[in-house]
Amino acid sequence: MAKFRKIGVLTSGGDAPGMNAAIRAVTRKALSEGIEVVGINEGYSGLINGDLRPLRSRDVSNIITRGGTMLYSSRCPEFATPEGMAKAIKTCEENQIDAVIALGGDGTFRGATDLTNHGIPSIGIPCTIDNDISATEYTIGFDTAMNTVLNMVGALRETCESHARCNIIEVMGRDSGMIALYAGISSGAVAIAIPEVPFDEAYAISRFQHARDCGKRGMIGVFAEGVSLDREHKYSEVFGRKLEEQTGIETKFARLGHIVRGGSPTLRDRLTATQMGANAVSCLLEGKSNVVMCVHEGRITTADINYALVLDRMYKGRLKDGDLDRFSPDAIAEMKSECAYKQAKMERLYRLSFDIGV
Ligand code: F6P
Repeated sequence: MAKFRKIGVLTSGGDAPGMNAAIRAVTRKALSEGIEVVGINEGYSGLINGDLRPLRSRDVSNIITRGGTMLYSSRCPEFATPEGMAKAIKTCEENQIDAVIALGGDGTFRGATDLTNHGIPSIGIPCTIDNDISATEYTIGFDTAMNTVLNMVGALRETCESHARCNIIEVMGRDSGMIALYAGISSGAVAIAIPEVPFDEAYAISRFQHARDCGKRGMIGVFAEGVSLDREHKYSEVFGRKLEEQTGIETKFARLGHIVRGGSPTLRDRLTATQMGANAVSCLLEGKSNVVMCVHEGRITTADINYALVLDRMYKGRLKDGDLDRFSPDAIAEMKSECAYKQAKMERLYRLSFDIGV
């Protein structure tokens, strides 16, 4: 049983509904084990600048229902520098922080593994609406984000029906199309566009035309932001204009943007956050570190952070030289199989979205 005087907890990267529930679970579990908890504000920059606050039981009361993060968040390039790391380690030493639990996405986990390598055992908890951490079936914030999109699309469907219009809706997800795909299918979108599958523009336009020819008044298209050719030229908006020009269907456009990050976390996000937060503390006490909490076949488990980061790069086709050097041929084969399974699932669901008639 490892001994800790204090555990630091931080949130980094894009915020996600459920982060507060995870902060609460980490705090309450650690305190129940006689370990003090310190909140690190503004992500890793708080560690560099010593921007800390003690977390006692009452400090995390009534936050399980709140979106966002009470510890605030930031993206901190300085942390990747030797100078930044040195300041962070100094803050830990001066404040008796013996371990860190970092909530966020892949960028957050890179910081956690760096901390572990510098002698501060760290554990990552996957909190991102994108659900794009390949080592886990689920990331905290994803369910709330999908349901927020569902509610927004529901509101737009009514006005589209009233005025016989189409609305193309762009949703967040960075390079992942999961929010768009899952919410698009569930909201009855006529067409969906995701980065994981090549988009057939002509076929999509023909589906809208066919729907109108069949008498469908209101129509919805759900596009992932990652389908855009680049961050500036948002393809979803371009498609909306093309659709109206080629079919005469009056077409509006809505970019949901950061709305998708808001809202009170759903039960699934609160429960997953509570389970992962408490388990992360238990893992530290068992002497585990440099791992990310995962959901695997419905159970809370862990995966080595470096494995998780390399698996993500493999899935996204961004492997770096040397990434696979530390893995056995069997492990590499297993990783490739995991990536193929995830891609096949996305393609299967995508086909389903078009198998449904209009
Ligand atoms: O990673 C979460 C996320 O919301 C992405 O879906 C989105 O592309 C990005 O963050 C937006 O980042 P920012 O909040 O810094 O604009």
